[in-house]
Amino acid sequence: MPTFAGTILILDPDIGALEPIAARLAEDDEYRVFLCASRADAARCLAAAEVDLVLVTEDATGEGQHFLRALRLSHPAVLRVLLVDGPGSTDRQELVREAAIYQYLTRPLDGEQVALLVKRALETRELARRHRILSRELKLSDDAPMFARDRLTEGFVKEARSFEKLVYASPQMAELCALARQAARTELPILIEGETGTGKELLARAIHYHSARGNSPLLIQNCGGLSDELLRSELFGHLRGAFTGAVSDRLGLFRAADGGTVFLDEISEVSPAFQVSLLRLLQEGEVKPIGADRTMICDVRIIAASNRPLAELVRQGAFRQDLYFRLKGFELRVPPLRERRDEVAALAEYFVRKHGAAMGHRVLGITQDAVQRLEAHDYPGNVRELENEIRRMVALAHNGDYLSTRHMSATFAALPVGQPAAGQSNGFALLGGSLKDEVERLEAKLVGEALRRHRWNQSKVAATLGLSRVGLANKIKRYGLDRGLGQEATA
Ligand SMILES: Nc1ncnc2c1ncn2[C@@H]1O[C@H](COP(=O)(O)OP(=O)(O)OP(=O)(O)O)[C@@H](O)[C@H]1O
Ligand SMILES: [Mg+2]
Repeated sequence: MPTFAGTILILDPDIGALEPIAARLAEDDEYRVFLCASRADAARCLAAAEVDLVLVTEDATGEGQHFLRALRLSHPAVLRVLLVDGPGSTDRQELVREAAIYQYLTRPLDGEQVALLVKRALETRELARRHRILSRELKLSDDAPMFARDRLTEGFVKEARSFEKLVYASPQMAELCALARQAARTELPILIEGETGTGKELLARAIHYHSARGNSPLLIQNCGGLSDELLRSELFGHLRGAFTGAVSDRLGLFRAADGGTVFLDEISEVSPAFQVSLLRLLQEGEVKPIGADRTMICDVRIIAASNRPLAELVRQGAFRQDLYFRLKGFELRVPPLRERRDEVAALAEYFVRKHGAAMGHRVLGITQDAVQRLEAHDYPGNVRELENEIRRMVALAHNGDYLSTRHMSATFAALPVGQPAAGQSNGFALLGGSLKDEVERLEAKLVGEALRRHRWNQSKVAATLGLSRVGLANKIKRYGLDRGLGQEATA
């Protein structure tokens, strides 16, 4: 069964007159064409098929004109072309405006001219569709510093960068994003592995928008929890009547994304039979809709993701090795959040702003005390879990609040936090010493925390605290501050 570039409906009471045009459009099975003599016929076609464009003749009975006006309301997405005889009139101008006519053509018609108009009209519609998809994807500018530093976070939170909507501040993520940018420039398939909630989908989106295919569609399919048949028809499409319930043709995601990218989430979940079809697409660029007797070429880039390690599944014989090798043109592993705790604060700050703005809560920032607890958690749900906690905190806050432990859920509020000097609480408890002793103890704590925040970058700490480098070095010596206390051993 052929695959058409579009479905065209022609309405003309004098069917014979337009037969040559219909024949031209149907040549080489380019378009599926319905020739209708009456409005009732045309309505039946519209109900049964996905019509892309109508060609309607202006006629004395007003039948065609009426049809076009009604169509604008019932099927606004269908392109409307008017075929006219003779010179224009005010009636026609009104019709063109009211029925939002795309174009009109004067008879006698030239088959080639009609075919070209149809082609361009469908292209324009496709561009408009892609434009809508893209506009929906609100993009952050690439690699821009995320926020203006404010008083609260000055010198306290690592500067966040972004790769599209993916925000990061850790060296591991910076390295990963650099590799992802390189991968984006190629046409190779990409396999993204990582625990749930680590940002695999965000990364896939960023890659797509950074690739040469960025102006074409990105379509996403979760492969988990779907029957083989359903997944197959979603992705490869089917022809009408291919199975019970297949009441009309379905294009399938791969062909709908032609020229673009398909993101296949939870790729580990697909059946062995499906793996074979996927391999065929990756090797030959071919898809075969269910019920079709011939394959079709389809140009898509595949990005697949899995939160189960595919190499392990290959070893167990649960995933085809050849497919695994094909999928991992580039292999990107997104580390779990507990392996990059140093960016928890930056992510938290980003989410405070994101959700504060979304909820209309003017939150001023987040206290150091709360950040320390956020950093102490192990995050089995990774960044998604952090975001959920922040969203909840923002929801509980009032305008003008700093988010603090009192806004935290019980799990987070109860977390023990590491301190530069052992045995201190987060609040500053007076120990009954002289004022000088107490002030020095507070000073030691503040300097220690600033050093920890800046991973012992002494120039930054000195600048933040308003000290000279020598002044800072003296304090470090005086208070016996030690890099080993509460530090992670990263540069
Ligand atoms: N680096 C990040 N910057 C900003 N937001 C992030 C980041 N990582 C994750 N998120 C947030 O966490 C949520 C989960 O991210 P995403 O859906 O990309 O994860 P995933 O790895 O695909 O998860 P799953 O395996 O459960 O499908 C997203 O809605 C996003 O808001
Ligand atoms: Mg996902």
